[in-house]
Amino acid sequence: MVEMPKAFTADRMEVASEAQTFTGNRALAIEEPLIFEIGSSETCGVDFEEPEETESRLGGLERREPMGLPGLSEPEAIRHYVRLSQKNYSIDTGIFPLGSCTMKHNPRLNEKMARLPGFGDIHPLQPENTVQGALALMEELSRWLLELTGMEAVALSPKAGAHGELCGMVAIRAALEDRGEAGTRRTVLVPDSAHGTNPATAALLGFSVKAVEARADGTVSVEAVRDRLGPDVAAMMLTNPNTCGLFESEIVEIAAALHEAGAYLYCDGANFNAIAGKVRPGDLGIDAMHINLHKTFSTPHGGGGPGAGPVVLSKALAPFAPVPFVVKEGDRYRLIESADAADENAHPFGRLVAFHGQMGMFVRALTYMMSHGADGIRQASEDAVLNANYVRARLRDVLSQPFGDRPCMHEVLFDDRFLKGTGVSTLDFAKALIDEGFHPMTVYFPLVVSGAMLVEPTESESKQSLDQFIGAIRSLADAAKSRDGARFTSAPRFAPRKRLDETRAARDPILTYREPLPRAAE
Ligand SMILES: Cc1ncc(COP(=O)(O)O)c(C=O)c1O
Repeated sequence: MVEMPKAFTADRMEVASEAQTFTGNRALAIEEPLIFEIGSSETCGVDFEEPEETESRLGGLERREPMGLPGLSEPEAIRHYVRLSQKNYSIDTGIFPLGSCTMKHNPRLNEKMARLPGFGDIHPLQPENTVQGALALMEELSRWLLELTGMEAVALSPKAGAHGELCGMVAIRAALEDRGEAGTRRTVLVPDSAHGTNPATAALLGFSVKAVEARADGTVSVEAVRDRLGPDVAAMMLTNPNTCGLFESEIVEIAAALHEAGAYLYCDGANFNAIAGKVRPGDLGIDAMHINLHKTFSTPHGGGGPGAGPVVLSKALAPFAPVPFVVKEGDRYRLIESADAADENAHPFGRLVAFHGQMGMFVRALTYMMSHGADGIRQASEDAVLNANYVRARLRDVLSQPFGDRPCMHEVLFDDRFLKGTGVSTLDFAKALIDEGFHPMTVYFPLVVSGAMLVEPTESESKQSLDQFIGAIRSLADAAKSRDGARFTSAPRFAPRKRLDETRAARDPILTYREPLPRAAE
């Protein structure tokens, strides 16, 4: 038996491979140790000269032992990180059907534009006259967003959808303060199918949250909203299309009822990618809505948070938009940084971020919009809806749908009734998909549906890739029904790691490196 260094046995985690090898590697998939296990603090990728002896100014606070930082040569460091990156699954690897997340292709043209030196190397503290192009781009992006949404004002600075929710709800609070009703309107209505960030945002701002139940068809009725309305209600937060993949068909009536009662309608626009270019939220009576640029407009997820979550505001809320924002004066652009610099109609509620937002995301999103054009954006929405309905139609005979078999928007929701009596859970089913080479769909969300499986294929998947995904799901559904339980309960069997104890990982995470000791300190 070949004796391997401890690091290579990965003894702290169970390796999923059933084909055992001497090395722990499987073919050219290398079992990668932690960086601490391969590095030693005596190694360095760079040659430094010995520092001159100088008198310490730390007054006895000097470190007495080595820190145990792993030192690696350049080739070792590169191999380590390249091997880790090869374990990643991403939208560039295959279909990533996470419902509500819109994992769609990020066109490389966006990347090319974002890397232009004038955008890529810009600094937020540069004088205004040196960043006229960047300000022009922000103004252009604002115009596209306003055109697509039919709204009055936009705040570009929020850095994610949830941050946008905060922005929109603070604007609502500011409008209520202006009306002298902030003290009495303390309730926010949220449907029970909402994303957790909606009630969390309202609660963070001190509102009390009242749930509105959906009807048996998965949507919210205007009657249910009216039942909850009163002089205490500040706003309703409604997602449209909702998290069950359905269009809220009574949204116009709901908006009218809220307005009549003196409240506002906040729309969670995470699913705007289903209707962009088709429906203008302003026409639905919405007062504030965030747009996750990393979903609808294909900017990458990650890289400084989810990315950017601009908020569009109706005429009623526009005066309260936060600073900074861009204004065009003649052929020059100015960044308005404070209420004093704005015109007399503006009453900005303050500012949310240190600078102006995520410039790189603005460039990518505008590139996506301009390269698609108005017709391309509309087609992207149509294709996203078409793809989700194709998946629905091809799986309707083997999976179960909580609200009946009817057309969905950009994502299709299944529940766990088709697994009844099989001993296989939604989680087992999702893990078995990993073994088949597919990233699972979103599971157990929305919470209102038992064992939910939310599939969002997005418009960027081809029919061939959808057919492969559908084929895998059909085979797994057959296997579950024919009691091939081991395939599920032990899944994933072929991933680098077996199934994690997710509860323990969340409740008792080990966040610091412990064993074995770094070699330098041994
Ligand atoms: C419906 C819905 N609302 C809000 C959010 C929060 O958006 P973000 O992740 O950009 O903060 C998400 C994110 O997935 C979502 O799906």
